[in-house]
Amino acid sequence: MPLESGDSIESLLQESRSFPPSASFSADANIKSEEEYQQLWNRAKDDPAGFWGDMAENLDWFRKWDNVLEGDMPDTKWFQGGKINASYNCLDRHLENWRKNKAAIIWEGEPGDRRVLRYQDLHREVCKFSNVLKRLGVETGDRVTLYMPMIPELAIAMLACARIGAVHSIIFGGFSADAIADRNNDAQAKLVVTADAGWRRGKELPLKAAVDASLEKAPSVEKVVVVRRTGYDVDMVPDRDYWYHEMMEDASADCDPVELDSEHPLFILYTSGSTGKPKGVLHTTAGYLLGTTMTSKWVFDLKEDDTYWCTADIGWITGHSYICYGPLSNGATTVMYEGAPNWPDEGRFWEIVERYQVNIFYTAPTAIRAFIKWGDQWPQKYDLSSLRLLGTVGEPINPEAWMWYHRTIGQERCPIVDTWWQTETGGIMISPLPGITATKPGSCARPLPGVVADIVSGDGTSLGPNQGGLLVMRQPWPHMLRTLYGDHDRFVRTYFSTIEGASLAGDGARRDEDGFIWVMGRVDDVINVSGHRLSTMEVESSLVAHAAVAEAAVVGFPHERKGEGICCFVTLKRGDGDESLKQELIQHVRRQIGALAQPDQIRFAPSLPKTRSGKIMRRLLRDIAAGRESTQDTTTLEDLSVLARLRADDE
Ligand code: WT7
Repeated sequence: MPLESGDSIESLLQESRSFPPSASFSADANIKSEEEYQQLWNRAKDDPAGFWGDMAENLDWFRKWDNVLEGDMPDTKWFQGGKINASYNCLDRHLENWRKNKAAIIWEGEPGDRRVLRYQDLHREVCKFSNVLKRLGVETGDRVTLYMPMIPELAIAMLACARIGAVHSIIFGGFSADAIADRNNDAQAKLVVTADAGWRRGKELPLKAAVDASLEKAPSVEKVVVVRRTGYDVDMVPDRDYWYHEMMEDASADCDPVELDSEHPLFILYTSGSTGKPKGVLHTTAGYLLGTTMTSKWVFDLKEDDTYWCTADIGWITGHSYICYGPLSNGATTVMYEGAPNWPDEGRFWEIVERYQVNIFYTAPTAIRAFIKWGDQWPQKYDLSSLRLLGTVGEPINPEAWMWYHRTIGQERCPIVDTWWQTETGGIMISPLPGITATKPGSCARPLPGVVADIVSGDGTSLGPNQGGLLVMRQPWPHMLRTLYGDHDRFVRTYFSTIEGASLAGDGARRDEDGFIWVMGRVDDVINVSGHRLSTMEVESSLVAHAAVAEAAVVGFPHERKGEGICCFVTLKRGDGDESLKQELIQHVRRQIGALAQPDQIRFAPSLPKTRSGKIMRRLLRDIAAGRESTQDTTTLEDLSVLARLRADDE
């Protein structure tokens, strides 16, 4: 429910715990003091061009820019006149010193196979594949779709596209043939890179077959390159389909990076909005690379000898920015894992942390809630003492999940960076800085340098401390999206038409008395109970704080007296739940946040419907709670059977 003018969202959740970093962490951190942060932040606000111009010295340019920033939101151009290449910055520049022999990617396949690619190796493979793309007719500006498992060839293909200025569009390996066809048509993709299949919980997930089916509906695609990953049987169409390994065999390892304009498109990434066709978020070369480079340094505190692991799939923006471009541009060692966290057992992630002595670990709240459900015995079996910094992204993290992460994984030693950002923002926007922030469980803390965030009511007025409202950005930043591919009007309408002079995130949030931001979830998830706007996330956090609860999703449903009632879908750590537990949970929420937030219904569910990126699909639950047949698009749902089970449980 969007905010009407003048409205704000009430916030009932109180959280007063605070965790400052240790003195030794601060002493070594990339940003060491509050003064340093204030200075960077103020400079970026008052003189964005001067600030970002200085930061851009961290990248290697073929030609320096004439102008740091031209125009204002929605249409900004960064580093005009500059010539740059993202693959050069992620690879070639590291070959000039000892880093040439440093591990760029440490990869582990689900079946247990392992590969390490040093910067030299990655550079060679990328150059070769760039030549393969060229040989198959790909030119600068052409769109190339990557529909691949989490194997090194995915990173190689991304960087090869970037090297020749082809625009990659990565489609997560869980999407269907229809979804691939839609995206290929929208992008008018010329070539697709895929694999025979990928591994997922010991089973082969056919990928090439899905591409074959999609091509019947996507005539722009002329060629397909297939990586042999599992040995799964595939049909190869002559003069259309080519084996990766065969093409690579005689490809030259010599390929100069193309000197691209700063605003040359780097990639398109489709995000599914809650309604309508997927949005092709477009990012450009220099600004995006600068944003991911700087935020990796600041937020993950990257050091030369760190082993860094982001558990996301490269099919999402998190993987683009923080497995590939950000870490590699910094010359870091990035771990990449192909498979599921519970294969062959629930200890897999911790086994990987122990094996590679991972120092920085970045994951999602949905994964953390799964770890909690699986039990402490799994992390306890492994040596996690190498970890020094933890991160989360994707959803608001419930304070109790945060505390578990802090105690059980971080062993009360590691700062946690709760990073707020979006596909559209390209990189992290709001986050603790691990060396200086006294973190509060559930808060993503303060905006990074260059980010001027505000919280406003429906008419754009800035709200005071602890008033919930719309999260907006008041100043452009280099790594922001430039358009929605092929639909600039939709871009302007979606992000810039609600609040004058600001870009809209679509999230509700409040700022506390210390200026810390608490994101309350999507504005669409706000409910109106007896005239009070409540964030469903706060009720969820209260439920998750109960010892019996593993996960909860809260939605509104039409209620005669209150306008909207509160319906809670609850997954338990164990057992099925009974009437007395229902009553106990209702009282628990009432005690924790107040009578206004008292649930009207508790429904126990074995699991919750989620998108493939792990976000709970509340819009589907809203239909179930209201007893409506769903007309919603379910193509992004991970496990359709969850819905059927929830409906069957409908009383
Ligand atoms: C939406 C963006 C950005 C990478 C992954 C998701 C939610 C993201 C947080 C956080 C609270 C968060 C927001 C945002 N979100 N991080 N730390 N705290 N909410 O990318 O699919 O574009 O989703 O994810 O609602 O708008 P995305």
